[in-house]
Amino acid sequence: TSPATPEAPAATPRRTPEELRSHQWYGTDGLRSFSHRARTRQLGYLPQEHLGKPVIAILNTWSDINPCHVHLRDRAQAVKRGVWQAGGFPLEFPVSTLSETFQKPTPMLYRNLLAMETEELLRSYPVDGAVLMGGCDKSTPALLMGAATADLPTVFVPAGPMLPGHWRNEVLGSGTDMWKYWDDKRAGLIGDCEMSELESGLARSPGHCMTMGTASTLTAAAEALGVTVPGASSIPAVDSGHERMAADSGLRIVELVRQDLKLSKILTREAYEDAVATVLALGGSTNAVIHLIAMAGRSGVRLTLDDFDRIARTVPVLADLRPGGRYLMEDFYFAGGLPGFLAELAQLKDVLHLDRPTVAHTTLREQLDGALVHNPEVIRPLDNPRASEGGVAVLRGNLCPDGAVIKHIACEQRLLEHTGPAVVFDDYKTMQATINDPALGITEDSVLVLRNAGPLGGPGMPEYGMLPIPDHLLKKGVRDMVRISDARMSGTSYGACVLHIAPESYVGGPLALVHTGDLITLDVEARTLRLEVDDAELERRRAAWTPPPPRYARGYGALYQEQMTQADTGCDFRFLAAPGVDPEPYAG
Ligand code: FES
Ligand code: MG
Repeated sequence: TSPATPEAPAATPRRTPEELRSHQWYGTDGLRSFSHRARTRQLGYLPQEHLGKPVIAILNTWSDINPCHVHLRDRAQAVKRGVWQAGGFPLEFPVSTLSETFQKPTPMLYRNLLAMETEELLRSYPVDGAVLMGGCDKSTPALLMGAATADLPTVFVPAGPMLPGHWRNEVLGSGTDMWKYWDDKRAGLIGDCEMSELESGLARSPGHCMTMGTASTLTAAAEALGVTVPGASSIPAVDSGHERMAADSGLRIVELVRQDLKLSKILTREAYEDAVATVLALGGSTNAVIHLIAMAGRSGVRLTLDDFDRIARTVPVLADLRPGGRYLMEDFYFAGGLPGFLAELAQLKDVLHLDRPTVAHTTLREQLDGALVHNPEVIRPLDNPRASEGGVAVLRGNLCPDGAVIKHIACEQRLLEHTGPAVVFDDYKTMQATINDPALGITEDSVLVLRNAGPLGGPGMPEYGMLPIPDHLLKKGVRDMVRISDARMSGTSYGACVLHIAPESYVGGPLALVHTGDLITLDVEARTLRLEVDDAELERRRAAWTPPPPRYARGYGALYQEQMTQADTGCDFRFLAAPGVDPEPYAG
């Protein structure tokens, strides 16, 4: 597809320098303004380099610890190039990095912290427009949540997927194959030598995970929302096209500021519904359910689990991408990328809203004009989908009154309707220590239950949801079992894992009341998850239940504990999700 249109139609109203927000800092008569200009001279800029020009904040999540964003340090230069070319004044702001791999207990604990940082930076500094740079899992929702509240013109620059992994002539997916080969090692199929080779082969370049895991799912959602330049989310991180996309984003943001096209004009209910349809048709990560609900909340759009289930029934899965399918993000890029994918999906009647604006074009329809699919194996045609229904099912029942989700396209068919006896683990550590204990009598029909892994109990709702298959079953060749928890699951994981059970066990949800040996029934077709224990018995157990002690006594953890909402409402903080606009700071 073509890059973003460089100029708006002549009729579009354009803001004068005096109408820019940054004018309050630089352009007024007072002492403060004088001081801001003097300090900008201190930065080495001439007056004509910045006065009267749109100030573009580049929020960069680059860090030495984050392999998914390590190239963004350089890439910000391309964004600046674009901003300068278009007559803007770029200023880079380092913001905190959320590294899925390194940050413990889970970066999910810190998503809302980055969202707060984003919002407050954009409000407290002389910023007219924002470019957000990130892509590793929670970075995308965090940046967009904060930006949605700040509501300036905004362009998102996705970090881009890393190159495909390689090992002994096999193509590897980061994440997905890590789990797979770890299981192979535990089953005695490979040894230390193979593992050390795999260590160098799994992740070959900067960039986020290159399966349709959480990162690729959320950056695709951002593009579907219309907050990136066309095609941005599919370009591999180290492709020269990624640098051109960054420059294009810099060009584009200056134009958006001139038109005063605020993020709220892009992030509408229609946009969020299209992002949901996109995520489901991609067979994307279950984490997108939580993040999109939270993001929509910041835009004043009430998106619910029921919206996901409803839309899932209207869209087929068209992408054949790992972990559920065969290909990786580079294949997807060559196959036409998200523009080709959306063009195919757009042919389905009444799914995408094609008349809404994006940051690049007046309508999504115009943006997708000319986009093509070049490989129908990777992006399947509507008449030959991978699955006839979207990738996530929402479950209800006495075990999850406020809902739970399952990625049913990534599990073994035989488990889609299953009743089995529960084997309960009270927390992750106990589970790790005891899962291979033969005394537990786990069989392939058992239902593995993990609790205290939710938003508050985890804390941070870690990606513990794909509970390991016990060694003795692995050796028998068992590769999937029904597993249920209030945790999340890595977007690169797979299996019959019921996730996001709400309310979570830590706050006394019914999951807290399950005993080992209770029968649990999963019926994906009927969208139910039932604990086969009668209400009177559950009441007795509830009366005997005592809440676990608080996880934190101080600091950010204590704030988190006080403010965190449950998975079905997006895990935002109550005080951040609240509607309303904060006052502009006094700058004069
Ligand atoms: Fe960053 Fe997977 S670890 S996207
Ligand atoms: Mg992940």
